[in-house]
Amino acid sequence: MSDDAPALPAGVERRAFDGRERLCTRGEPVYGEPTDDGWRAWDAGRSKLGAMLSLGMDTGLAGGETVLYLGAANGTTVSHVADFAGPTYAVEFSPRPVRDLLDACEPRPRLFPLLKDARRPETYAHVVERDCDVLVQDVATRGQADVAVRNRQFLADDGRLLLAVKARSEDVAADPDEVFAAVLDDLREAYEVLETRSLDRFHEDHLGVVATPK
Ligand SMILES: C[S@@+](CC[C@H](N)C(=O)[O-])C[C@H]1O[C@@H](n2cnc3c(N)ncnc32)[C@H](O)[C@@H]1O
Repeated sequence: MSDDAPALPAGVERRAFDGRERLCTRGEPVYGEPTDDGWRAWDAGRSKLGAMLSLGMDTGLAGGETVLYLGAANGTTVSHVADFAGPTYAVEFSPRPVRDLLDACEPRPRLFPLLKDARRPETYAHVVERDCDVLVQDVATRGQADVAVRNRQFLADDGRLLLAVKARSEDVAADPDEVFAAVLDDLREAYEVLETRSLDRFHEDHLGVVATPK
């Protein structure tokens, strides 16, 4: 990592695990990750946000933010987020992973699981606070830009969208670069794109995007 890489959020550190420097947060383990003295390694190979931070993307995260997380699955990444963020709302529409997500929530009083469809924000608008600082999105669904646009309503005007675009979820056959260009075009309806980076080193055919509301 170069010296001019953006600072990590408070509560996220680089520490040596088995001789290798890795990102980590402080909290109860969730997915069998290595731990050391209360710190849990954050596996960038299993987490797009972990990959974005490992690659030195400027996420704007400082720690303590209010977060809406779309596509929480069984809580791998959102549990790390809740270790360093403030109130964290975790939306996932598939009941099976939500069972594991509930276990991750148990020792994390600021992590709120929502069994909801991220394409229908009106179904959780009464629960999630307005003016969230950060919207993290990692939903494996067609129409990823549309999901981000629909959920813009929860984000403060100076907030950040941290989006992982999965090319194959839009079109399994298309050239990923063409898919990314089309998704970014649609995203610009509601957001200004600040940075994009291929996540290929950790996640094949994924693009990391940092954006802010227009
Ligand atoms: C790649 S996984 C997310 C992994 C997770 N973000 C992590 O890093 O721990 C994508 C998740 O998006 C969920 N998903 C897909 N479409 C969704 C929707 N419309 N609303 C909510 N969740 C959705 C899937 O059920 C799946 O659990």
